[in-house]
Amino acid sequence: WRILRRTAYVGTAAWFVYGGYNIYTARHPLAQAAFDPEKKTIVILGSGWASTAFLKDIDTVNYNVVCIRGSHFRCQHKDYAQSRAKSRRTFCFTLTFPIPSQVIVSPRNYFLFTPLLPSTTVGTVDFRSIIEPIRYITRHKSREVKVYEAECSDIDPVKKTIVINDNSEIKGSVAQQSLPYDYLIIGTGCQNATFGIKGVEEYACFLKEVWDAQKIRTRLMDCIETAAFAGQPEEEIERLLHMVVVGGGPTGVEYAAELHDFLKDDLVDWYPDIAGKVNITLVEALQTVLPVFSKQLIEYTETTFKEQNIKILTKTMVKEVRQKEILVKDADGSERTIPYGLLVWATGNTTRPFIRSLMEKLPESQTVRRGLAVDELLRLQGAEDIWALGDVTATKYAPTAQVASQQGKYLARMFNLMAIKDKLEAQVVAMSEGPEKDKQIRKINRLKDIKPFHYSHQGSLAYIGSEKAIADLPLFHGNISAGGVATYVFWRSAYLSNLFSIRNRTLVAMDWIKKNVFGRDISRE
Ligand code: FAD
Ligand code: NAI
Repeated sequence: WRILRRTAYVGTAAWFVYGGYNIYTARHPLAQAAFDPEKKTIVILGSGWASTAFLKDIDTVNYNVVCIRGSHFRCQHKDYAQSRAKSRRTFCFTLTFPIPSQVIVSPRNYFLFTPLLPSTTVGTVDFRSIIEPIRYITRHKSREVKVYEAECSDIDPVKKTIVINDNSEIKGSVAQQSLPYDYLIIGTGCQNATFGIKGVEEYACFLKEVWDAQKIRTRLMDCIETAAFAGQPEEEIERLLHMVVVGGGPTGVEYAAELHDFLKDDLVDWYPDIAGKVNITLVEALQTVLPVFSKQLIEYTETTFKEQNIKILTKTMVKEVRQKEILVKDADGSERTIPYGLLVWATGNTTRPFIRSLMEKLPESQTVRRGLAVDELLRLQGAEDIWALGDVTATKYAPTAQVASQQGKYLARMFNLMAIKDKLEAQVVAMSEGPEKDKQIRKINRLKDIKPFHYSHQGSLAYIGSEKAIADLPLFHGNISAGGVATYVFWRSAYLSNLFSIRNRTLVAMDWIKKNVFGRDISRE
């Protein structure tokens, strides 16, 4: 017992030291080597799963020039930074080959942990808990990484330039700029598919970005407060409290589940008069919801939704969206309208317009409409020095965070190997013939033999409400399916451990505790 107790003490102390060290280093990044325009430049488009995984793993430790300028913090630490710069130069003095500098371009200046986005629509988790500013990552790289909050609108693969636009509300005198690149990494994901259905853009809410979740939350509370307004006719109350979700994929299912929890845990207490009148309907064009999950889990989800009074309309296709109703076509071909108060549109992904125009510039090799065609090393087909990864690509893999982040890690590893190969090649040129040079050449040849991207599936998880989750997990060569409360505990711990940083983990854990103690916030933002 004494040994166990001591181990527990030492373990706890070590955990605190480790946590404290992480927090300290996160808040006090070291000085960085300056952005060097002489060196090759990697331009990374996007700050999502793919691009962030790439950025996190790309090794910049060998950068060899350090210059401190700018902010208060940097001035205060000038001497320290210069001494570090010296030691780094001494350590890396042989590395004079051109190592790429990096530029990030993204319309949002943070990484978003999408798996918990549905939880933010009802206030289970706060938006800020699941985002990580991209500068928290770039400031910890050994060389300065330029970050532009901008949208890329054009890529010229021949001139090797991109056009970026500042589409934010506040603009300076320059709002458009052309940037050259040596290597371009495209990780811009997809946009919401509407299939050109009339009224979707105008009246529905999407669920892809933080601002979408904020809009859903505001509209939801608006519907509820408007339904509670004095003298509201019964028919109007029914419409306002009808929450319709279109698309029975994981996004639609998880949103419906979160909405149900909000209704059951909070609305019942704070709006006792109208809570019983809230209805949730999930509309799906196919035969079942969650087609990617096993049959057993589909049935389990459908049964759970039935218990939760979530109505599932399968084989029902939305044909048009109007301001207060949707027009649907049933399996027998008949059409009818369904009134709604809140409409959430979750029918999957489609290619962004600027990606489509890039594909048009490469008509011979970019023939897949679904996204960018890449080879097994993630190189864009038909262009030089461009790589594409994540949802923006059309590969055999599902458009998931798992695939995107594994591709980002893989590509970073490949770039790191390229840098080592360049270094060795530079050394070989200066070497005289002999066994040492042969050994070096063999090493270079081994590095040239880059392995194709291999995806390792870790399983699929989804939250289905009432503290139940479903999981399809690969086991040896088979698959195990599980659903229920224990799976929910697993779901929570898996997402908690996969969150980006110790800061995100702490904030999400606190949000969960806060929700259990005080309930969700029902104020309209
Ligand atoms: P994204 O993460 O979408 O990132 C794209 C980036 O590009 C963004 O930073 C965007 O701002 C930027 N960008 C867009 N346009 C431009 C432009 N013109 N110029 C420059 N930058 C641009 N997957 C799972 O595996 N598990 C889950 O549990 C899961 N849950 C999800 C829940 C929800 C609600 C959603 C919507 C998706 C979920 N996914 C999940 C899918 C997963 O989020 C995507 O597969 C993943 O985000 C794809 O990563 P990406 O880097 O390719 O694109
Ligand atoms: P999805 O493509 O998986 O599902 C969209 C659904 O909408 C389809 O089932 C489609 O039949 C339906 N649909 C399309 N048009 C329709 C119409 N007009 N009327 C009615 N139904 C219509 O899209 P989703 O859920 O946004 O997921 C996108 C990707 O993100 C997927 O790869 C998914 O696996 C992943 N994801 C994973 C999650 C998880 O693992 N927990 C959570 C959310 C997303």
